[in-house]
Parts: sequence; structure tokens; C-alpha cells
Amino acid sequence: MEILFSREMIRQRVDELAAQISGDYAGRDLVVVGILKGAFIFMADLIRAITVPCRIDFVRLASYGSGSLSSGKVRITKDLEIEIAGCHVLIVEDIIDTGFTLAFLDRVLRERRPASLKVCALLDKKERRQAPFTADYVGFAIPDRFVVGYGLDYGEQYRFLADVCVLHGIP
Ligand code: IMP
Ligand code: MG
Repeated sequence: MEILFSREMIRQRVDELAAQISGDYAGRDLVVVGILKGAFIFMADLIRAITVPCRIDFVRLASYGSGSLSSGKVRITKDLEIEIAGCHVLIVEDIIDTGFTLAFLDRVLRERRPASLKVCALLDKKERRQAPFTADYVGFAIPDRFVVGYGLDYGEQYRFLADVCVLHGIP
């Protein structure tokens, strides 16, 4: 498997994102929301590099369809436990592909009246977008390649890899 972003490159970029986020959220009541499962490693590194105190919570989403293909129909299978009304919410996601997942979650969470809602994604496959969605913080823009590692999976495998790698032979 070919390494696309090494652990050192990821660490440096996470530190840069955390510095930017820390400046933007200074003095605010920050709730960081991770999308399970893919975001868990990125989020763990990010919140430890952010200097603003935060609360954390998770959502788990499912999209109908299978394999590496996303469909437009997304639903929540595990909801937040924290009440986010009036809070500054930062969603953390591993990768934006078609944009359906984040377009859905953004809409659902905005209905709960947070003080603000932004998205931080480690990776962004901009050319794959089908639903209009732009993240506020992006680690790396990537071409249309299937990647695994650092939390990202293929069929629940490879999440444990410390580097982001390209998985070849995915349709
Ligand atoms: P979207 O709704 O198409 O933006 O889907 C985003 C989700 O698809 C991510 O949270 C990942 O779970 C999955 N995904 C998309 N591209 C990749 C990839 O290259 N590797 C692993 N998972 C991916
Ligand atoms: Mg995911």
C-alpha cells in the first residue's frame, strides 16, 4: 500500500489546524462532535492539540447503500448526548466525498440552534461532490483515490494504520 500522508505530515497538519481552531474559538463554549467511526483518531489528536477547553460528543450515521459508494439517504443511528443549543459546535469528519453525509448532519444539527456550526475534515475529495458542501477547516485536499488508515476503513479494515494510504483496486 502506498503512503499518501505519513504520520509526520498528518501530525504537522493537525497542529496547524488546531492552532487555527484555537484562535477562532478562544473564550467560547466549544463542543466538538465526531462522526463515528472514521473520525475517532483524527478527533483524538485534534482535541489534544486545541488549547481551548471543549466538551466532546459523537454521532454515528448510516447511509443506505453499500461498499465505498455513498447514497443520498443518510440517517442517525447514534445521536448526540449533549444539548447543543447555544453552543459553538465543531463537527469533525474523516473525509468528505459526495458531501451527502455532512450536508445531512449540518441540516439536522442547525435545527437545534447552536450558536455556531462549523466542520473540520481531515481529507476532502472536492471533485467527487454531489451535494454542495464546503468545510470550514480541511487538512488535505485529495484526488479521487480510495484511502485508508488513521481511522479510515475499507470494510472495517485498516483503521489502525498510522499513515493515510491509498488502497488500490477499489472500483
Ligand atoms: P459522503 O457522504 O460521500 O461525503 O461520504 C463520506 C463518508 O464516506 C466518509 O465518512 C467515509 O466513511 C466514506 N468514504 C468516502 N471516501 C472514502 C475513502 O477514500 N476511504 C474511506 N472512507 C471513505
Ligand atoms: Mg465515515
